[in-house]
Amino acid sequence: MINAWRYRQPTEIIFGRGERAQLPDLVARFDGPAVLVTDRALADLPIIADLRERLGEGVPIFAEVEPNPTVSMVDALAEVLRANGATVAVAAGGGSSLDCAKAACSVALQDGSARGYHSEGAALDARHLPLIALPTTAGTGSEVTPIAVLDDPEKGVKAPLVHDNLFPTVALVDPELTVSMPRPVTASTGFDALAHAIEGYWSRNHQPMCDLFALEAVRLVFRHLERVLADGADLEAREGMSMAALLGGLAFQAPKNAAVHACSFPFSATYHLPHGTACALTLDHFIRFNGPDLGERGRALARAAGCADMVQLADEVARMKAEAGLPTTLGEVGVTAEDIDALVEASFHPLMDNNPREVTPAALAGIYRNML
Ligand SMILES: [Fe+2]
Repeated sequence: MINAWRYRQPTEIIFGRGERAQLPDLVARFDGPAVLVTDRALADLPIIADLRERLGEGVPIFAEVEPNPTVSMVDALAEVLRANGATVAVAAGGGSSLDCAKAACSVALQDGSARGYHSEGAALDARHLPLIALPTTAGTGSEVTPIAVLDDPEKGVKAPLVHDNLFPTVALVDPELTVSMPRPVTASTGFDALAHAIEGYWSRNHQPMCDLFALEAVRLVFRHLERVLADGADLEAREGMSMAALLGGLAFQAPKNAAVHACSFPFSATYHLPHGTACALTLDHFIRFNGPDLGERGRALARAAGCADMVQLADEVARMKAEAGLPTTLGEVGVTAEDIDALVEASFHPLMDNNPREVTPAALAGIYRNML
């Protein structure tokens, strides 16, 4: 029996090398003025200079986004959007810039602070500024999801804010914007794309539309990730990974992620791993754990990666992870045997309930001990 399902994707998607040339026309569609949003690490790079030139020299820029965007960063951006009378925001960056802009485009038209909607749980209404999202990494899929992962350090809450009005208005995916990504970021974000595809596919809420995106995303990662890690200037491989990330986003936005993402949160919050690296850490272990419960669906997933079954898929993911230079043991990220109980407890985010095979605290402790 197929689960009952709903699929909604209001974001207009424009994909292709050089398609950032459409930016001025897109901004004009929303009657400008625009504000350009990016993160500190990108602000001085030629790709941002290129976008500023296309938007016109006077375009205001908010380049204050840092990794793990906070609710106060969202409030600061919302204030800049209001102060400039912006009718549209243009966000160029990785998941942090896109998520911060998604939340700020809503908060700018509503009352109060982002904190009220995030850690205090008030409901956003439907008002939001249009957002044009240009990913400069290939992994998060944030350009097509209604999710903004935000941190509230004062309350010690890092969690996804999820609302239908957080879908960007336009996803402008130009693979040329990803060429300057350093190898470690390419590796980490590439595994995030793979984790989205696999988790959307095996989520308890899996559905046929998202399955198609997931299987194609897996195929593309296996065809292009190692190529792009060997040569970051390989535009065909960059294009393949941008497509994989986009399809990975489409694959999980409705079914949502599962155990791999649930476990990634403490690895990011406590052990400071980049998000994709934190996902990669447990991905092959959960492929082994879930494989026996997935039957023919598991074999179809493995075949998309060019593997015979889930065991071989887990072996391949483990090999690729090691060759990409990502950590493969808990020891490498600073976890000791004494830390496992606390780590298990911190890993039970609600996404754990989406996992196809029930994860008990004892089973997770066993997985973590095997990873020491
Ligand atoms: Fe992710």
